Amino acid sequence: MPLQNINFHTRKWVRPEDLNANGTLFGGSLLRWIDEEATVYAILQMGNGRVVTKFMSEINFVSSAVQGDLIEMGLTATKFGRTSLTMQAEVRNMITRDSILTIDKIVFVNLDEHGKPAPHGYTTISYDRDRLPTHHFPPIPFTA
Ligand SMILES: CC(C)(COP(=O)(O)OP(=O)(O)OC[C@H]1O[C@@H](n2cnc3c(N)ncnc32)[C@H](O)[C@@H]1OP(=O)(O)O)[C@@H](O)C(=O)NCCC(=O)NCCS
Repeated sequence: MPLQNINFHTRKWVRPEDLNANGTLFGGSLLRWIDEEATVYAILQMGNGRVVTKFMSEINFVSSAVQGDLIEMGLTATKFGRTSLTMQAEVRNMITRDSILTIDKIVFVNLDEHGKPAPHGYTTISYDRDRLPTHHFPPIPFTA
């Protein structure tokens, strides 16, 4: 059953390097794409360039895609927490609209300059670009 109220943004064209041994779309490629898509969504909703994936619920690979298919990815926020944002995701075939993957719950956490969870201060979805981060925290240096 397709998820409700999802806006589909990014499109992908399934290429030979995205295939598994069965000749269909490799789940790892799909997860990398959806995690990146969710990162962009989380940045735009929480207004901060430093956000990380905290949790992903069951991932349902509903149907497959093959080389040359056009697919599109959609996300919607389902819960604004204090420091977190929970989203739902769906990937579907652009032409047939058949669902390829659904994820009920993806949680991102908003971090401060020290890499600690920080309140983002938002409670509703923005459909504009009014929360674009105006600066980037430098990466935290690795210490052994
Ligand atoms: C993100 C991280 C800083 C959070 O640390 P933490 O000690 O769990 O922080 P907190 O307990 O304060 O939780 C932060 C938020 O995450 C939520 N959260 C924590 N664990 C969760 C879980 N298993 N499922 C859903 N939400 C969770 C909390 O509810 C809280 O949200 P809220 O403030 O909106 O209520 C830490 O877990 C981390 O660095 N994880 C690795 C992240 C990463 O590298 N991701 C890349 C993928 S490899």
